[in-house]
Amino acid sequence: MSVTILVGGQWGDEGKGKVIDLLADGVDMVVRSQGGNNAGHTVVSGGREFRFQLIPSGILYPQVTCVIGHGMVVDPRAFLAELATLRGQGISTDNLVISDRAHMVMPYHPAFDKLGEQQRGDDRLGTTARGIGPTYEDKVRRIGFRIGDLQKPRFMEKKLRFVLRLKNEALTRLYGVDPFDEQTILDEYMQHGELLDRYIRDIYPIVQGAIARGDRILLEGAQGVMLDIDLGTYPYVTSSAPTAGGACTGSGIPPSRISKTIGVFKAYTTRVGYGPFPTELHDGLGERIREVGAEFGTVTGRARRVGWFDAAVARYAVNTNGVDAMFVTKLDVLDSVDPIRICTGYVSKGESWDHPMANISHMKHCEGVYEEMPGWLSPTRDCRRLEDLPAAARAYITRLGEVSGAPVEGVSVGPDREHTIVLGPLIP
Ligand code: GDP
Ligand code: IMO
Ligand code: MG
Repeated sequence: MSVTILVGGQWGDEGKGKVIDLLADGVDMVVRSQGGNNAGHTVVSGGREFRFQLIPSGILYPQVTCVIGHGMVVDPRAFLAELATLRGQGISTDNLVISDRAHMVMPYHPAFDKLGEQQRGDDRLGTTARGIGPTYEDKVRRIGFRIGDLQKPRFMEKKLRFVLRLKNEALTRLYGVDPFDEQTILDEYMQHGELLDRYIRDIYPIVQGAIARGDRILLEGAQGVMLDIDLGTYPYVTSSAPTAGGACTGSGIPPSRISKTIGVFKAYTTRVGYGPFPTELHDGLGERIREVGAEFGTVTGRARRVGWFDAAVARYAVNTNGVDAMFVTKLDVLDSVDPIRICTGYVSKGESWDHPMANISHMKHCEGVYEEMPGWLSPTRDCRRLEDLPAAARAYITRLGEVSGAPVEGVSVGPDREHTIVLGPLIP
């Protein structure tokens, strides 16, 4: 039996999808524990590209059970659209289950997401506008709908009457926009319920059964530690816990069962949306890395902000998540960059910091402290063993592990499953 957690160690889009796909070959079950269709995980396998938002990136292996855990928020429309796309690509979804406890994105949630952003004006967060924040808000406020509610039409109807009154009052009085119609929502969601029915399960016996059988389980993180509601650059964060702790609560697997935690880190840093980003590059080099790395969001198509590797962030992610091993991705994107810089800490108001500070204004205005390394100026895409990498690339990888505080067990040199250098055991 082994349970491996995979977390994003930066601001999301670290290449988690690629790594999950790679590791899923050696496990029996992949569980996603948090987030919703704000996530966009791209997997390239044998030259074919797949994009996942809600469905775990292990789905390409028919022998792997894929679980949408109760910590996630599921938009039934997005889920059905994703299913249709996957089926169109010839991928079986027979081994997919959704927790009946997962919360549901309702039609008014994306509306509140967009209105909330408009209301913030210049201070907007740059959310994905998928209604993820408002759905988690309702969960915590205890007026959320859960996937299992789709199987209880009378309960849905009664509850929707109550909840929609609150929502419509806010929409019409606070925002001055049209209210939602109860019957239209009910009709639509009852239809969704019929289509989703075969996937909805109590995942407790499924997950505990896998543990009892001694199966190997992989917990797929979405977003990244710096987008965590507590540890991240609040309020420029997402509304869930994309951490090792969140993986446990969102799947029902206790911390005592965790065998290993793997952190995925880009060889540089990117961020979509607003908020502090100390190592951001505002120059032509940043643009070049964006182009070479195709740093445009999978979900919203927005250009991702680009910067140097931030070891203060990486160490923070390693220490707060108990990262046992790092998987460094997109090394190939730095093939033509020389020199390469690594941020090892910050100076803010004359004070040195070795980790991200809570004060968002200080974090925004701090100065990065950098060390510089020579680039390798040669292609790495075809490297499959550590020895194949140019010496300067090997030195960079070693240094990333040293400054972040965890060994590097995997390096990705291209988007495809095969563009990978495995250095350690990864899955126990
Ligand atoms: P995720 O959200 O963490 O799963 O990451 P995304 O899929 O949103 O973004 C990562 C992007 O980089 C995807 O388009 C991947 O196909 C691509 N990618 C992953 N690893 C590598 C790599 O090593 N090199 C290059 N060039 N692209 C990669
Ligand atoms: P994956 O799993 C990168 C960002 C948004 C915004 C903030 C809040 O692909 O790494 P939200 O819609 O969640 O309320 O937006 O979080 N964000 C992501 N950025 N990758 C993601 O997921 C993200 N999911 C949310 O851009 O800044
Ligand atoms: Mg992504």
